[in-house]
Amino acid sequence: MIIKPRTRGFICLTSHPDGTAVNIKNQIDYVKSQGEIKNGPKKVLVIGASTGFGISSRIAAAFGSGAATIGVFFEKPAAEGKPGTAGWYNSAAFEKEAQNAGLYAKSINGDAFSDEIKQQTIDLIKKDLGTVDLVVYSLASPRRTHPKTGVAYASVLKPIGQTFSNKTVDFHTGVVSDITINPIESQEDIDNTIAVMGGEDWRFWMEDLQKAGVLANGVKTVAYSYIGPELTFPIYRNGTIGQAKNDLEATASTINTILKDLNGEAYVSVNKALVTQSSSAIPVVPLYISLLYKVMKEKGIHEGTIEQMYRLFNDRLYTADGTIPLDAEGRIRIDDWEMREDVQQEVDKLWKQATTENLEQISDIEGYRNDFFNLFGFNFDSIDYDAEANEQVNVPSI
Ligand code: NAI
Ligand code: NA
Repeated sequence: MIIKPRTRGFICLTSHPDGTAVNIKNQIDYVKSQGEIKNGPKKVLVIGASTGFGISSRIAAAFGSGAATIGVFFEKPAAEGKPGTAGWYNSAAFEKEAQNAGLYAKSINGDAFSDEIKQQTIDLIKKDLGTVDLVVYSLASPRRTHPKTGVAYASVLKPIGQTFSNKTVDFHTGVVSDITINPIESQEDIDNTIAVMGGEDWRFWMEDLQKAGVLANGVKTVAYSYIGPELTFPIYRNGTIGQAKNDLEATASTINTILKDLNGEAYVSVNKALVTQSSSAIPVVPLYISLLYKVMKEKGIHEGTIEQMYRLFNDRLYTADGTIPLDAEGRIRIDDWEMREDVQQEVDKLWKQATTENLEQISDIEGYRNDFFNLFGFNFDSIDYDAEANEQVNVPSI
């Protein structure tokens, strides 16, 4: 079929199999150009492995460290005249490249929050790898069905305590407008968001993996968090999602206890704000990202998910002398360049100026848009989007 981008709000409904393959290939080439991650992981489980930080983690582990990888995700193949999801095609492309490079790669498609998928994953590790030495937890989801109670939770993106008013942008049209977001009305909004994006599921995974004996001695696990600038605090770090991130961060110490006998370690890495399917859904954040991109690109310190994940592995989790640099709260920081004083001051200045009229000049809204479409395999020069594409691409191991 001929596949063009079709968007509804911040969602892109279509994905291009050949374009997503280019995206994956570019990320692999980047990792190869950086060289081997010494003392890196060898057998890796990535939960949330198909898009964003998760697929980049998988690529960094496989092509930077020669790791065997198992990826868990929730994606859809093509059906009834509709192309598959970007994460489906990403995973298909990744597995093919891994096979060509002689690297073990298998994937499990299903609800990672469920006990069934955890068991399937354990069975696969037992059968093929014995143990894993790194578990990356990179899930982002708007909802979760609790595996023990069956209760379905939906997360919300709301401020806590007071109404939040600020600028936002529709990144498709470039229209900057004022947005007012009402605060939560009850504690339930916080609890629901923590149930979806907090640390419980990460803990469930690590408990199940530990009990099944599929974690190697010295295993590491890492989950991803975000802090960001003060201007997004009301909607992000001090909002409902921030409460879930506090919970996730606190869970690292619980998991450390679970991993004690294995000499294992649990970490939270605070990552940079980047265009992914998840972040484009958060109000205000896309405008911040488009200004941040402008400033960081001008300073020559811009990174995408693959640059971030390579740096996380090479300069944080697997350093030459084995020490992991942490902040005062015990977190890994690869948002260090984003949070640099000079970067934030310039973003702040631009933030105050930003209007629909000057947006193209003072921001990198074009870079934002390009990254967004790239996520779905669009906007790649090497692809002819008027040509027939084969949407029936399989993930080889599924
Ligand atoms: P994403 O939307 O690109 O990736 C989410 C992944 O989770 C996909 O692989 C998807 O298939 C998988 N997934 C979702 N629900 C699932 C389910 N029920 N079962 C199995 N797999 C499921 O998101 P992104 O942005 O890569 O987020 C990953 C983590 O990084 C999140 O914790 C997010 O908060 C964090 N983060 C994101 C930042 C950003 O700017 N995008 C910045 C800092 C942290
Ligand atoms: Na991810």
